[in-house]
Amino acid sequence: MKQNRLLVVGSSNLDLTIYCDRLPGPGETLLGGEFSSGIGGKGANQAAAASRAGAEVTFLSAIGNDSSGEQIRAFFSKECIETLWVTPGKATGTAIILVDKNGTNSIVVAPGANAAMVPDDVDSATFHGCSHVLLSLEIPMPVVMETAKKAREAGCVVILNPAPASALPDELLRCVNILVPNEHEVGVLACSDRSESAHEAAARRFFNLGGEALIITLGADGAKMMQPLQDELVPGFVVPAVDTVGAGDCFCGVLAASLAAGKYLTEAVRFANRAASLSVQERGAIPSFPSKETIFSEPP
Ligand code: RIB
Repeated sequence: MKQNRLLVVGSSNLDLTIYCDRLPGPGETLLGGEFSSGIGGKGANQAAAASRAGAEVTFLSAIGNDSSGEQIRAFFSKECIETLWVTPGKATGTAIILVDKNGTNSIVVAPGANAAMVPDDVDSATFHGCSHVLLSLEIPMPVVMETAKKAREAGCVVILNPAPASALPDELLRCVNILVPNEHEVGVLACSDRSESAHEAAARRFFNLGGEALIITLGADGAKMMQPLQDELVPGFVVPAVDTVGAGDCFCGVLAASLAAGKYLTEAVRFANRAASLSVQERGAIPSFPSKETIFSEPP
């Protein structure tokens, strides 16, 4: 029987990254520096981060019957992550990524197979033994909604990283326990004509729909943890960032892994902050994610 298992449902991509001094403007051709290719996609990154942090992970995702899909399958079998692959007959998702000398990135994704997932790909039996489910938005919204609904019916805690930013229907938010947007995504969640900040408006909307915690990631400034009766700023770490790709995914994966391991929310946010700050100091997404020994070596 799988106990306290984390189910991650999300995208898989092949990331094609060029490192350059600065990001190009419209119509401009730049000569860049090093090129690298690796496994990415918000779902894949989150599953890998959670597994490195010690969680038992099942990852449900879509890939193509192509060489990128083969690379992704091979990677996950080495990482000891249980996988449920959907192969809808489209090419594996691809992300074109540019990273400048300050570690700032710009990303465009051709979603391919990710966009061809359907709600029936998520079987109710998948949730057995899972205590937590982690979702992001690089897969179709009906799939996210169906997963969140079935997860709640199965008694799982649902964590949603609403990235890339998208309008979030009330029907979805009613099934989410913990929402983890960044500063940009929280603005999309907040729709208010009152004189309140975007954070307050988003929190009010989410809590009115039954949400339990809104955790806004703030990069080096840490994370703002909002709950119906209290707010807390969990400080971040100022570190030399060389590549921020996947830092948000690392945060979400480690947060979910820590909660599945029974840690309190504040403690889980502190560990997630630490892991994300370590990840930005190395190039790449998954290659930069820390191990559980590194993350949990000291108290949060
Ligand atoms: O969050 C980073 C990820 O966004 C990259 O790995 C890329 O694939 C895109 O999905």
